[in-house]
Amino acid sequence: MKLLEEKILKYGNVPTEDVLKVDYFLNHQVDTVLMQEIGKEFAEHFKYKNITKVATIESSGIAPALMTAIALGVELIILKKQSDKVLSEDILQVKTKSFTKNTYYDLTLSKKYISTDDNVLIIDDFLANGAAASSACKLIEMAGGTVAGIGIVIEKSFQPGRELLDNLGFDVYSLARISKLSPEKIEFLEELHIC
Ligand code: G4P
Repeated sequence: MKLLEEKILKYGNVPTEDVLKVDYFLNHQVDTVLMQEIGKEFAEHFKYKNITKVATIESSGIAPALMTAIALGVELIILKKQSDKVLSEDILQVKTKSFTKNTYYDLTLSKKYISTDDNVLIIDDFLANGAAASSACKLIEMAGGTVAGIGIVIEKSFQPGRELLDNLGFDVYSLARISKLSPEKIEFLEELHIC
C-alpha cells in the first residue's frame, strides 16, 4: 500500500537492526486518515470471504482492526493479554511468547463472542515472529470459528512470522512488507504483478 510505505519512509525510525518504530502514526499517535484507508483496503481485499467478525490483539492492533470492522460492517473482538491463567469454562486461553519482549502472556477470548458460523478476519499491526497471530488463530478455532484470513499492517518479511502463517495454510495479506531494515535504509519487497 503506497500511502503506508510513504508514511513508513517519512516517519519510521530504526533504533536497532530489526525494530521499526512507527509511534508517529500507528503505535502512539494514530493517523486516523491512514487508519481509515487501511480499513478500506483490508475490507476490499477480503470482501468475498464472508467475514462475520474482525478480531485483533490488544493494544496496537485495535485502531486498524476497528476501521476494518467498520468498513466491513461487522463487530470487533479484542483478544486480551492476561498475565494469569483464568479458571473458567467460558474462557479460552493460549500461552504466547512475546519474542521482542521475552515475556509470556495468556491470550484470552470469551467463548460467547464466537460461534461455529463465524468467519473471522484477524488484523494486527506488526508481524514479526508470528507468535501472536498464530495464537489468535488457535483461539478462534478453539472457540469453533473459522479463520477466514489474516491482515497485517506491517510485515517484517525477514523474520519468520510470514512463513509460519503461510505454512499453517492461512490467507495472509500484508499492506507493507519490509525486506530489509537498518538505521540508514528501509526496503520493501517488490509487489509481483502477474498479467
Ligand atoms: P509477533 O507479534 O509476530 O508474535 O512477534 P513478537 O512476539 O516479537 O512481537 C511482540 C510485540 O512487539 C508485539 O506487540 C508486536 O506487534 C511488536 N513488534 C514486533 N516487531 C516490532 C517492530 O519492529 N516495531 C514495533 N513498533 N513493534 C514491533 P505487543 O507486545 O503485542 O504490543 P502492543 O500491541 O501492545 O503494542
